[in-house]
Amino acid sequence: MGSSMRTSLLAVVALVAALELGLVGANFQDTCDITWEPQNAKFDEGGNHLTLSLVSNSSGCMLRTKKQFIFGSVSTLIKLVKGNSAGTVTTYYTSSIGDNHDEIDFEFLGNQTGQPYTFHTNVFADGVGQKEMQFRPWFDPTADFHNYTIFWNPCMIVWFVDSIPIRVFRNHAAEGVPFPTRRPMYAFSSIWAAEDWATQGGRVKTDWSKAPFVAEYRSIDLRICECSSAAGCSDACAGSGNWYAAPELCKLTDSELHQMQSVQLGYTIYDYCADPERYNGTMPPECSMPQY
Ligand SMILES: *[C@@H]1O[C@H](CO)[C@@H](O)[C@H](O)[C@H]1NC(C)=O
Ligand SMILES: *[C@@H]1O[C@H](CO)[C@@H](O)[C@H](O)[C@H]1NC(C)=O
Ligand SMILES: *[C@@H]1O[C@H](CO)[C@@H](O)[C@H](O)[C@H]1NC(C)=O
Ligand SMILES: *[C@@H]1O[C@H](CO)[C@@H](O)[C@H](O)[C@H]1NC(C)=O
Repeated sequence: MGSSMRTSLLAVVALVAALELGLVGANFQDTCDITWEPQNAKFDEGGNHLTLSLVSNSSGCMLRTKKQFIFGSVSTLIKLVKGNSAGTVTTYYTSSIGDNHDEIDFEFLGNQTGQPYTFHTNVFADGVGQKEMQFRPWFDPTADFHNYTIFWNPCMIVWFVDSIPIRVFRNHAAEGVPFPTRRPMYAFSSIWAAEDWATQGGRVKTDWSKAPFVAEYRSIDLRICECSSAAGCSDACAGSGNWYAAPELCKLTDSELHQMQSVQLGYTIYDYCADPERYNGTMPPECSMPQY
């Protein structure tokens, strides 16, 4: 067998492995492991409903997908901690393991009863983060389940809330801005104690007499290019035949763009690209590059 034949055979094997997409509408018990304080996780409804509890300042809970992936879409429905959630942080993110890691974050910072949550977003590539944007939710995220989706393809990362894009981080790797493309990630969700900084800059502490603080989850949808070793599948996951690589998914539609602009106009509370003092006048290069 010639070496080019062997190479293309390997490529086919990798492609088949990569195309084994995740399970749509799958349940938490089948798709995830509890990797921190399993006694604080409770599954019911056959694994489709899950609660994670924060019990004390050293005992929260963490969920992690069994599978690793490069590119795709991960979504879940979350109802955040009701009432006084000051000092609590509920997270929903993807991350690689090891040095110079890649990570795409949603973090939900709690507040006193009646005061608004903060939706914090960030992205790390090659270990470098500090690309924060924060939003006020335009609804009460503790009253009902809402759909939080991380979409990641070779063109861009999009954070969606109930199918409304709230933020895009475009791939400007060609212009020297790191973008995650080759490190397999897991998806995670957790609840933990962060009263030192989370609420009003740490001024409002957690009322531990109200513990446990409970985040509720329903249904998880993983449409991912499964990949556990970059050498084995990152090329296949980058391939143009994957569903998320369709040319129309390389930018937002006009109506998505309008939706995002109105959310950003009305609900942004922090944007690192609008914080020149932090950078002493020299803004990160991507801040002056097209994002959409
Ligand atoms: C956590 O709670 C314990 C018991 O109330 C307290 O002694 C300890 O100082 C707290 N630790 C932190 C980091 O706040
Ligand atoms: C979240 O919404 C997207 C559509 O934007 C949908 O494809 C996905 O299945 C939803 N996720 C869940 C867990 O229902
Ligand atoms: C909590 O509420 C206060 C007052 O409305 C607000 O300033 C703050 O941004 C809210 N969120 C957090 C995480 O502190
Ligand atoms: C900020 O810029 C000023 C003037 O160029 C310089 O003196 C100072 O060292 C800079 N500070 C930082 C933190 O880069």
